[in-house]
Amino acid sequence: MKRIFSGAQPTGNIHIGNYLGALRNWVELQHEYESLFCIVNLHAITLPQDPKLLAQKTRDLARIYLAAGVDPKVSLIFIQSDVPAHAELAWILNCVTRISELERMTQFKEKAGKQRESVGAGILNYPVLMAADILLYQTDLVPVGQDQKQHLELTRDLALRFNRDYGETFRLPEPFIPKVGAKIMSLGDATKKMSKSDENVSGSITLLDDADTVRRKFKRAVTDSGTEISFDETRPAITNLLTIYQILTGRQPAEVEANFAGKGYAALKAELADVTIEFLRPLQERIRGYGDAELDRLLDEGRERAQELASVTLDDVKARLGIVGARARGGV
Ligand code: TYM
Repeated sequence: MKRIFSGAQPTGNIHIGNYLGALRNWVELQHEYESLFCIVNLHAITLPQDPKLLAQKTRDLARIYLAAGVDPKVSLIFIQSDVPAHAELAWILNCVTRISELERMTQFKEKAGKQRESVGAGILNYPVLMAADILLYQTDLVPVGQDQKQHLELTRDLALRFNRDYGETFRLPEPFIPKVGAKIMSLGDATKKMSKSDENVSGSITLLDDADTVRRKFKRAVTDSGTEISFDETRPAITNLLTIYQILTGRQPAEVEANFAGKGYAALKAELADVTIEFLRPLQERIRGYGDAELDRLLDEGRERAQELASVTLDDVKARLGIVGARARGGV
């Protein structure tokens, strides 16, 4: 059976962009693939985090995966830092990565901004850890949003380079980026993606927002000039709202446009708020429904199985590099 791997950071508040661009597809694909879904807390610490909050958000993200429909009977859920092989392989891959490759990453450029000289090295090396996550499990497919595409390309480049230099070791992963929903835009600025780290909290609908908050955020959402409600690249704000509506209702674009023909922006926002609230209500009930004991059991299971799988690749990598410690042979 082919394998998928994906993950999300337990930082900020997970939003409908994360759900529509990634989690939704994990749930769809999990029955066709052997699936691993990771909570990437080592990625989270590339920026300063409140330790207590990070620990809570890590567990809450596991609840969110489950509530979104990740089925622990067929998929593994685990915490990245529970499997030390991720950090070990990341170090090894760092040694085959060029600094220039990392400096070219769009996310690095955005995050580091003008303070290139003073940002933590973790921000630069972030995509190498992501490559390690993926390659460790001989992953075939990585369901992610559009913003991770470049990181996937680097992952493939690193795998190819390692395979060329040390022999066939890693499977080459393919990205799975959905045709619709791969880049949900901020409600406050339709030229920017919806982001967990956005300072404007009204820019994203989080999966934990209550009904009033959802209504308020959509009411405030930016729109485009004109009045027509249609999918149109030149009108990114309305297209973004329609895209969210389209996915949450499961309707075709033409049906969506027909539904809003002759209606105004206020009606679109109100209907979209209703649909979103109806989507979030049962999801939020499920999130709260997972107790600590159940979560511990699932995360323990996830850790053990992930460790088993990861060690197969890591042992092979170490042997190829000649870093097998006491078991190494040779010398005088
Ligand atoms: P993260 O935590 O930023 O986001 C989790 C997933 O949500 C997608 N996403 C979006 N999709 C559509 N519209 C948006 N506005 C939007 N914002 C985020 C992301 O593309 C992602 O799929 N580096 C990753 C986590 C990671 C990972 C991995 C993913 C670490 N190791 C290995 C896959 C495989 C990240 O920061 O995602």
